[in-house]
Amino acid sequence: MRVGLLTGGGDCPGLNAVIRAAGRRVMTRDGEVVGVLEGWKGLVDGLFEPLGPREISGLLPRGGTIIGTTRTNPFKLDGGVDKVLANVRDAGLDALVAIGGEDTLGVAARLYEEHEFPVVGVPKTIDNDLSATDYTFGFDTAVTIATEAIDRLHTTAESHNRVMVLEVMGRHTGWIAVMSGIAGGADVILIPEQPISIEEACDDIRRRHERGKDFSIVVVSEGFELEGAGDGGDVDQFGHVRLSERGVGAALAREIEQRTGYETRVTVLGHVQRGGSPTARDRVLATRYGLKTADLVEERKFGRMAALQGDSIVDVPLKDATAELKTVPEDWFAVARAFFG
Ligand code: F6P
Repeated sequence: MRVGLLTGGGDCPGLNAVIRAAGRRVMTRDGEVVGVLEGWKGLVDGLFEPLGPREISGLLPRGGTIIGTTRTNPFKLDGGVDKVLANVRDAGLDALVAIGGEDTLGVAARLYEEHEFPVVGVPKTIDNDLSATDYTFGFDTAVTIATEAIDRLHTTAESHNRVMVLEVMGRHTGWIAVMSGIAGGADVILIPEQPISIEEACDDIRRRHERGKDFSIVVVSEGFELEGAGDGGDVDQFGHVRLSERGVGAALAREIEQRTGYETRVTVLGHVQRGGSPTARDRVLATRYGLKTADLVEERKFGRMAALQGDSIVDVPLKDATAELKTVPEDWFAVARAFFG
């Protein structure tokens, strides 16, 4: 079989580990592997690169994606879908492995439903907001990076008796904020789906300071709704605004300082959360996903996605993964909240 591999949307650590694992298994079965360059743009414009044993070797620890990525949506481009179908036919691809999050897999699911497109999916995103899988790869690395940042902020916060606000990514969900906040011992965490008011957050900080602590760590997710924050930057082809430009961390820091009188600083972690080498856990997960998708391709189980349920790798319908966002449930937030104030 001739199998295309595509990475779409925001990059994350572990993409190359999937390429390695899926590529290796396809090659072991005498199949050919083709890299589709720059996400769905590569299928619209016909950008392909053959991948052999040499190209997929040494990829396990390497961050980013060797085949590039964009946030291109073929359904938003004039004739985009027809070009995708024609390029797949001309390139002689028997199957496509789409490695992506909500947007990339949403396109894959639609192509499968509307055009019987031979595609299987792999769930990727640092945001961990895809349904039908317990975890996406990339998330563990982002949480590890954010946790290290919280650890580092602790020592400088303590030295200066300051409140330190850390803004993390996560778009519409607060998975990174909650998990890194629990792991790093944050004193307050603000996320879009379990919002607490600024006054409650300030009360928690005041209570802590009354108990004799002179510093506090506050973690806020970039998508947290806050008066005083902006609307965000440009909208991409999937309708997402650039949340990092809302300045929610800075607005929150201003509010905290004004209301409590405690000196406050802000750190915006940004794309550092998506860069560099994947954690061991993400490498293992990405590897298992890669092998599973090669099996799905071999079995011609198209329209499916590899998923983690409990400790097992299973396959689920692509449309189940993208039907709705997986948000942070109350019980996870309760774990974090037990340590507020
Ligand atoms: O979806 C992953 C993500 O990192 C979000 O957490 C964030 O809002 C967005 O991508 C940033 O996108 P870009 O890389 O286009 O700035």
